[in-house]
Amino acid sequence: MLAYTYLEKGKFALQEKPEPVLQDPRDAIVRVTLSSICTSDLHIKHGSVPRAVPGITVGHEMVGIVEKTGAEVKRVKAGERVTVNVETFCGHCFFCQQGFVNNCTDPNGGWALGCRIDGGQAEYVRVPYADQGLNRIPENVSDEQALFVGDILATGFWASRISEIKPGDTVLIIGAGPTGICTLLCCLLKNPGRIIVCESRPDRIRFVQTHYPEVLVCGPETCKDFVASQSAHGGADVVIEVAGSESSFRLAWECARPNAVVTLVALYDQAQQLPLPEMYGKNLTFKTGGVDACDCEEILRLVSEGKIDTRPLITHRFPLNQIEEAYQLFESKADGVMKIAVENTGAGTSVRPEKNEVPAHPEKRYTPEHISQLAPQEIFVFGSNLQGAHAGGAARIALEKFGAIWGQGTGLQGQSYAIPTMHGGVDAIKPYVDEFIAFARANPGLTFLVTRIGCGIAGFTDREIAPLFAEARNCPNVVLPESFCQIIQNL
Ligand SMILES: NC(=O)c1ccc[n+]([C@@H]2O[C@H](COP(=O)([O-])OP(=O)(O)OC[C@H]3O[C@@H](n4cnc5c(N)ncnc54)[C@H](O)[C@@H]3O)[C@@H](O)[C@H]2O)c1
Ligand SMILES: [Zn+2]
Ligand SMILES: [Zn+2]
Repeated sequence: MLAYTYLEKGKFALQEKPEPVLQDPRDAIVRVTLSSICTSDLHIKHGSVPRAVPGITVGHEMVGIVEKTGAEVKRVKAGERVTVNVETFCGHCFFCQQGFVNNCTDPNGGWALGCRIDGGQAEYVRVPYADQGLNRIPENVSDEQALFVGDILATGFWASRISEIKPGDTVLIIGAGPTGICTLLCCLLKNPGRIIVCESRPDRIRFVQTHYPEVLVCGPETCKDFVASQSAHGGADVVIEVAGSESSFRLAWECARPNAVVTLVALYDQAQQLPLPEMYGKNLTFKTGGVDACDCEEILRLVSEGKIDTRPLITHRFPLNQIEEAYQLFESKADGVMKIAVENTGAGTSVRPEKNEVPAHPEKRYTPEHISQLAPQEIFVFGSNLQGAHAGGAARIALEKFGAIWGQGTGLQGQSYAIPTMHGGVDAIKPYVDEFIAFARANPGLTFLVTRIGCGIAGFTDREIAPLFAEARNCPNVVLPESFCQIIQNL
């Protein structure tokens, strides 16, 4: 099989290797369908991970299909789609029992895959302690949606979990690389008062502004003053440092208010200074990495429910036989690259982006900023009066942002589709919904993002409206609000 291999400092190469075999009854063999490249892989390449063993296959971010399991594996079986955890852990030792799986005392405990034992930038991977290291991917979650669950998303989830975020807090995240963005997604679930992302690269600032318009953004030079101006007590209540550059550690504690929590996710190349005289009286609590990646089941559930979506991070795709090029791109940070999906398609096959398979999307996508960023084939579907307009939020957004024409009838206008909801009961709405579904079927090249039509000023409830869309279950290009999906699923 093909396996991307660490040869010596500065040198990786794609090599032909034998397929891995079960070595222990607790092992599983996984056929890798999709893998990714992580900043830590670059650390190995640059020789700054002394534990990394020359000759090993690299890669510790992957999903795949279980090929074989050892006799003692109980939680997964052959044929199941799974995420693979970056960490190897026994589940029984003192540290595992307390969830500190990064410190598992097994000789291969912690980050071993793609570092001390063969990893997943290959066609197959052997996963030790498969009951701990593999998690089944729910039916409605695609491989691309699950790709980061075992590594950077687990890291973001862990960072947000240990940072003691309370409602109303000002949270500062330093660094909007892929790991910073995963941290941001998990912090959003904690409902803090506001999140500020500090980033130095303009392309990444734009990435945050485009995808997460509800988040405040600043650069490192203005960060301290900006954070103070956005905080009730002179600084951030929680700071999460995910940049790992020369000055970002200092920036982290400087922006924190007295008694704040400062979580250090970043790995530093150099020792950092803790200038205690300058910090005197700040009474900070520091928390340090690495990640305890033991929440993958919960993370997969959140992905399945549409509450976490890391797909925007996948900016590029390459087949495994072009992984060399993928590394060059990832390392150069050129072309707006965030993360690369490496597909095992067999030699020479080109890779097509997957289409949006999620049936539901979270309501937060309906912010005006998000809607104004709709892709050309995406259509915003809102409730209207018989003239195709009303004063409700969704219609106004459609009007102002992308060419819905006020009072020009129902149906498709620009990038919006109006469904009348304001002229009678639910029965009067039904024919318009049927007409809409027929229209969507006839236009498979368009994707329709349906808002909670009728549930705003028209005054209906989700329970009344959702059943009208039951037929849309079989329309892959109709994306319904999560609340509608849940109701339809239980019909
Ligand atoms: N603790 C863990 O277990 C764990 C897990 C995964 C990643 N990490 C670490 O997290 C860090 C981030 O990983 P990544 O993959 O997102 O890397 P990345 O290099 O892509 O992202 C870092 C971002 O920080 C920005 N940055 C640098 N200095 C800055 C400053 N002073 N102010 C604002 N922004 C600044 C960079 O422009 C970049 O966008 C790395 O240090 C990585 O090793 C740790
Ligand atoms: Zn990693
Ligand atoms: Zn253990």
